Amino acid sequence: MWEVILAITGLVILMVVSFAIWRSMSVVALSRRLCASESRINSILNATEEGIYGLDLEGNCTFSNAACARMLGYENEEKLTGKNMHDLLHHTHADGSPHPVGECPINRALQEGREAHVDNDIFWKSDGTSFPTEYWTYPVRRDVELIGSVVTFININGRKEVQAQLIQTSKLATLGELAASTVHEINQPLSIIGMAADGALERLKDDDVDKDMLSNKLTTIASQTERLAAIVNHMGLFSRKDDGVFEWFNACESVHGAIEMVAEQYHASGIKLEVISPRECNVCGRVRGHPHQLEQVLLNLLSNARKATLKIAASKNAKNGAFVPTVRVSLKENKANSVDIISISNNGGNIPYGVLKKIFDPFFTTERKGEGTGLGLSISRDIIRGMNGIINVYNTEGGVCFTIILPVAPGKGKPRGRPRRKGAEEMFADNLIPDALKGLIVENEKDIADRDGPAKTQM
Ligand SMILES: Nc1ncnc2c1ncn2[C@@H]1O[C@H](COP(=O)(O)OP(=O)(O)OP(=O)(O)O)[C@@H](O)[C@H]1O
Ligand SMILES: [Mg+2]
Repeated sequence: MWEVILAITGLVILMVVSFAIWRSMSVVALSRRLCASESRINSILNATEEGIYGLDLEGNCTFSNAACARMLGYENEEKLTGKNMHDLLHHTHADGSPHPVGECPINRALQEGREAHVDNDIFWKSDGTSFPTEYWTYPVRRDVELIGSVVTFININGRKEVQAQLIQTSKLATLGELAASTVHEINQPLSIIGMAADGALERLKDDDVDKDMLSNKLTTIASQTERLAAIVNHMGLFSRKDDGVFEWFNACESVHGAIEMVAEQYHASGIKLEVISPRECNVCGRVRGHPHQLEQVLLNLLSNARKATLKIAASKNAKNGAFVPTVRVSLKENKANSVDIISISNNGGNIPYGVLKKIFDPFFTTERKGEGTGLGLSISRDIIRGMNGIINVYNTEGGVCFTIILPVAPGKGKPRGRPRRKGAEEMFADNLIPDALKGLIVENEKDIADRDGPAKTQM
């Protein structure tokens, strides 16, 4: 009997010991597998050039990769773990004003459990310098419960430099295009100055010098010199390469600047230019960006409008001679939505849907080889996006209309608050499209669907 009990006990002990050995072997194998998979994930994270970090619901860093620490100027990833990432790298806007966490797109996406993408922001480094960045943020969930987010980012310094170079090249090309009319514009005051000076010299030969007459001639010379200086200064400022720093300005400064630049060329080509814009530049709120870059956008649009209207004028006038090529520029502030709406329309005929779809693509052109780079609209779109605005185009009765919508700081003259810092994509994603813009888009869709195809073109 005892032998049986002993045998069973021995057997049970043997089974328990074997189970324990099997179990610990499985645990070891499992932990090896876990370690292997962790080191695989780490090597993937560390092999990527993009910075990646995770956030818990408080916005504290749960992990980061080597590129993240490197780009932000930290010795290693551990230096970031547990730190509040908004306070560390996103605390201040590019203009030096504080960036409250409540306005931070990463934090808002984290709290709302949604994705977000921003392509024109900055991150601050440990040494107090900053770099331009594009980032994406994705929510992280355990089952359905939101537990944090993962942010990936890249340094877009190189891209910004290429963009700045392109804008500069495009500005110089615009000046080249306007060269003939500018020479004419400069020649006009020069010849008035010349005539006034000759007249004055002639009068000086008389013994009895007519002082009033001389004073008139000199006043003419002074005012024409002023006019010349204004033209030359404007061209000098326009052609200067912009530093990267945005400023507050009135969009009408750019509208009037662009109109002054093309007025002579338009006049010489027989194009009627209609302008609807506030007379006083300080009546509307201010937009944020570079005034000469906005001017460059408007000049691109005015150049396209000129080409389109002249082409149609050449064919229509060949038939009956009654067509007046017309370009209309309008600037309105929509106070309810804190946006400026600039539109440039022309009667140069509709744009076919196939062209409309690709119109903002870089290098897309319908011009003959050597006559257009196809970069005008793509550069314009980049500039407007950089200002957190939207540019779109739609067909109208007998022509097209380009519309630019820019967020403004409300108030006259000085900004009273920050304009919404949303990019175009974010505005759409959030369904925060101002009513004025909604109206335009509906009109776009209807117009294009009626004439050309199913969709609007909107950037
Ligand atoms: N107002 C317009 N009317 C008709 N077509 C237009 C108009 N604006 C642009 N387009 C079309 O869009 C194309 C792209 O315009 P974009 O300004 O980008 O380049 P481009 O004018 O061809 O070249 P570049 O700007 O270098 O001179 C034009 O070739 C033209 O087909
Ligand atoms: Mg163009």
